[in-house]
Amino acid sequence: MMSEFVLIKPSFEYLEQIKAYREEFANCLDWLHGAQGLKRFEEPQDWLSYLALCENDATVPEGEHKYSQFIYVRMADKKIVGMIGVRHKPVGPLETWGGHVGYSVSPSERMKGYATQMLHEVLPYCKSLGLNRVLLTAGDENVGSVKTIIANGGILESYVMSPKHHVMVGRYWITLPD
Ligand SMILES: CC(C)(COP(=O)(O)OP(=O)(O)OC[C@H]1O[C@@H](n2cnc3c(N)ncnc32)[C@H](O)[C@@H]1OP(=O)(O)O)[C@@H](O)C(=O)NCCC(=O)NCCS
Repeated sequence: MMSEFVLIKPSFEYLEQIKAYREEFANCLDWLHGAQGLKRFEEPQDWLSYLALCENDATVPEGEHKYSQFIYVRMADKKIVGMIGVRHKPVGPLETWGGHVGYSVSPSERMKGYATQMLHEVLPYCKSLGLNRVLLTAGDENVGSVKTIIANGGILESYVMSPKHHVMVGRYWITLPD
């Protein structure tokens, strides 16, 4: 039986849906987390080219981290309901306040459990990178994100200031099972 949702890498097949996802965030104040700068790219194909660079050790742009992007697609209508990205090895300041995994859910598709499902589904990929635990960060005011992390086994370690978002964020570790 075909699954109702798939977590896949974005491709040319989804150009329209990527555009639509980006547009939903244009009318909303939330950060477009877990989408590797999609906000900057008016043309989805330019974003795909950028992602390809980020995925390869030899071509990661300066100041970026090796990164893999996923989209969460609802098969019934092929809509991208969420995006989630993995930094393979956050270094420097991001090691403190950024962490390995970031995500967002389309503003019109929230409170349906999608963030929780998506994070659950990306963890085996993190394990395949050789990680034994992953770091995620979220501010206490972001109740949906904190609950998503805790539902996936996240344990709060400490709070740090996020210089990018100007809020204190909790650092949560999820241990990946063998
Ligand atoms: C945070 C975010 C990803 C949550 O997505 P979502 O698909 O709505 O989350 P889920 O449906 O899986 O909800 C998880 C839990 O949080 C709760 N929740 C979600 N949004 C909430 C909100 N705004 N206020 C209070 N509770 C909320 C849900 O009810 C659910 O609780 P439960 O497990 O007790 O039923 C989404 O709001 C978003 O994209 N925000 C902008 C980007 C962002 O902040 N990303 C995270 C960076 S740290």
